[in-house]
Amino acid sequence: MYICICHAVTKRQLLTAIDNGARTMRELRQQFDLCNSCGKCGPDIRCTLAEAMARAEPSQAPVTETPGEVASV
Ligand code: FES
Repeated sequence: MYICICHAVTKRQLLTAIDNGARTMRELRQQFDLCNSCGKCGPDIRCTLAEAMARAEPSQAPVTETPGEVASV
């Protein structure tokens, strides 16, 4: 799936770059020349980066519950 249509960059390419060490929007933008045309890809790139980082480093994921807290049903 294309994330940046202007530069024909796919989600797979972004995930590979993240696997290879890219950790910021700046790194991804520099590597793929993203967001410098229409800029519509910015939110999707940010989302892809956040999801990949949460999967790769669970300790970096946003905390939604206090550790040890049991959700009430
Ligand atoms: S979709 Fe990425 S710059 Fe246009």
